[in-house]
Amino acid sequence: MSRDKTLYTCSECGGTTPKWLGRCPHCQAWNTLTETLAEAGAARNRYSQAGALALNAAQPVTPLSAIEAQEVARTESGLAELDRVLGGGIVEGGVVLIGGDPGIGKSTLLLQALDALQRKGLPTLYVTGEESGAQVALRSRRLGLDHSQVQVLAETQLEKILATTEAVQPAVAVIDSIQTVFSDQLTSAPGSVAQVRECAAHLTRAAKATGIAMVLVGHVTKEGALAGPRVLEHMVDTVLYFEGDTHSNFRLVRAIKNRFGAVNEIGVFAMTERGLKGVSNPSAIFLSQHSEPVPGSCVLVTLEGTRPLLVEIQALVDGGGPNPRRLSVGLERDRLAMLLAVLHRHAGVACADQDVFVNAVGGVRISEPAADLAVMLAIASSLRSRALPKGFIAFGEVGLAGEVRPAPRGQERLREAAKLGFTVAVVPKANAPRQPIAGLEIHAVERIEQALDAVRALA
Ligand SMILES: Nc1ncnc2c1ncn2[C@@H]1O[C@H](COP(=O)(O)OP(=O)(O)OP(=O)(O)O)[C@@H](O)[C@H]1O
Ligand SMILES: [Mg+2]
Repeated sequence: MSRDKTLYTCSECGGTTPKWLGRCPHCQAWNTLTETLAEAGAARNRYSQAGALALNAAQPVTPLSAIEAQEVARTESGLAELDRVLGGGIVEGGVVLIGGDPGIGKSTLLLQALDALQRKGLPTLYVTGEESGAQVALRSRRLGLDHSQVQVLAETQLEKILATTEAVQPAVAVIDSIQTVFSDQLTSAPGSVAQVRECAAHLTRAAKATGIAMVLVGHVTKEGALAGPRVLEHMVDTVLYFEGDTHSNFRLVRAIKNRFGAVNEIGVFAMTERGLKGVSNPSAIFLSQHSEPVPGSCVLVTLEGTRPLLVEIQALVDGGGPNPRRLSVGLERDRLAMLLAVLHRHAGVACADQDVFVNAVGGVRISEPAADLAVMLAIASSLRSRALPKGFIAFGEVGLAGEVRPAPRGQERLREAAKLGFTVAVVPKANAPRQPIAGLEIHAVERIEQALDAVRALA
């Protein structure tokens, strides 16, 4: 491939230059030019496109109602938890991007899924760029997939991968990982923004053109976001994150974006010696088993997608000094600072000179504000060294004015807690059920001070 097909495109304005420059000559933005491929014959420059408009004939248009709405064709992978996050199964021609920490189990999950599909009679292809065929084979033996008929290709060059996919015609192809794939039509190194974007675009186009479902494995950055250009997430149909604490067995697959289903749906797996096993009833796995209540622990009913989950929130308030630390695992640290300020201002609970540590048990990551109340009650409990009552749960968002705001789908949360044997709940007033829930004593509160009073009266 000759160099003259290489263009540099500005990520701000989309303008192109044939040479790399520090500053975009069109919009004057700095460091926005990245290498892209000029399509043979197609003018990429937006000005020439505008000029070409006059040459093109007008195209017929169709009213929306006259277009037939086709249901997408889905195939269940056989891993029920994975199907749940995908919105019911793998979609024909759909492109899924799955990211996660190193060693979390991405390759394991996808190999298991491909094998299950292959067993159903669907042809599958596993393209490995990170490991050799032998390594993949070793994993498959460990997973008990000795007679697996999944086709394996150890290759990193895009053009060869595309040619092979065309020849093999799988129903589902996994590319493990997109960061290792490179096109020899670009000069930049594999894994660079330009390569990742270009290769993903080609694979996506191939998926749409052939109806092959593609799953791209993506690396994540140190901060936990998918590595490579953000545009990658826009390009694909579904973005999944594989998360969990590598020290615990539980793994969550979370949908961040899904053109074919609900987002924030989660699939729960347990990592075992023989691979990932779906956990169909996960609501209580994030509780640590204390025989008696301990100070600094409060159970939260959180909502993950359509599922209520019970998660233990632990807080430790201790020691400190002139520069006290605020650390949180699985919860947002900025939010923690805000909640401490609200506790101080509105409830007189002062931790200003103390270290505060907060942890969501089991490596689960909680982003919903409905966790506020449980976090604050756990902090107050640790500070006072007084345990919350046995069988206690809480949820609710707390505002800067100290008000306790309702959480979505409160009834479902309460019912799940009652089902798992919890007996006392402190919840936002608007979430209090009209009819009592059997076995659950509910204290409805409007302000954080009321919540603390309710807890004190219970102890
Ligand atoms: N013999 C074993 N017994 C139990 N679990 C194992 C065994 N070998 C590997 N594992 C688990 O499998 C995980 C590796 O899974 P996998 O290779 O699928 O991860 P990955 O997300 O693809 O990693 P990478 O980012 O390196 O590609 C290990 O972290 C470990 O938890
Ligand atoms: Mg891997």
